[in-house]
Amino acid sequence: MSDNNPIIIALDYPNAKAANEFLCKIKDQSCKVKVGLELFIAEGPKFVEQLSAAGHQVFLDLKLHDIPNTVASACKSASNLGVWMMTLHALGGPKMLLAAREMVSASPQSTKLVAVTVLTSMDQAQLSRVGIQNTPAESVIKLAEIAFESKMDGLVCSAQEVAEVRAAWGSQPIIVTPGIRMQSDQAHDQSRVATPRQARGAGSDFMVVGRPITSSSNPLSAINQYIEDWSFDD
Ligand code: C5P
Repeated sequence: MSDNNPIIIALDYPNAKAANEFLCKIKDQSCKVKVGLELFIAEGPKFVEQLSAAGHQVFLDLKLHDIPNTVASACKSASNLGVWMMTLHALGGPKMLLAAREMVSASPQSTKLVAVTVLTSMDQAQLSRVGIQNTPAESVIKLAEIAFESKMDGLVCSAQEVAEVRAAWGSQPIIVTPGIRMQSDQAHDQSRVATPRQARGAGSDFMVVGRPITSSSNPLSAINQYIEDWSFDD
């Protein structure tokens, strides 16, 4: 499927049936799809393989965070499923990230590894509660340093930090931004939200969008709205 669609749709569904019903509604769109914990735990690797076999670029968002050997082996298993890109937590530290890098680079698939920095649901107060006194932006930059030293292909961060990451590391890294909402949409549980236009303007490569599209009565029209806003200056 086409590589230039900037939307990664979060398939946050309880089972394959619900995810497939949604995919049927948008079958004319070449969106990339994100399989997260809910769907992966319900349906397992078979469903990921089916999505890849059907031509979807799958973003496997399991946000891995464990000891280096465990994460590296899990990344290898995920890579063998044919996933396009997957996530691990930069908070796991350089040893964990480098172990994953080595393992995936030695496997025949070219799965991209992107490091999650600070979840877009975390604000300053939430960070303080877990003992992190840095601002979300300072934390993202610190974690980005660790991620790029450890040869990650890219980062997941909120649109609010993208410009700073681009200024420091240039155009090469892949930057994926969740927490994307049109002005008229509900924020739900997201704290650091931005519009598609703001995300693209700041230098993001891909936007992850879930509920505003998956809960829409007309998902194709919602997708088009998001793409139009993203492409405002094309
Ligand atoms: O429905 P919504 O657009 O808020 O979905 C956002 C998706 O992006 C969810 O699947 C969530 O797990 C994911 N995500 C996030 N913040 C991150 C990384 C991933 O919201 N930092």
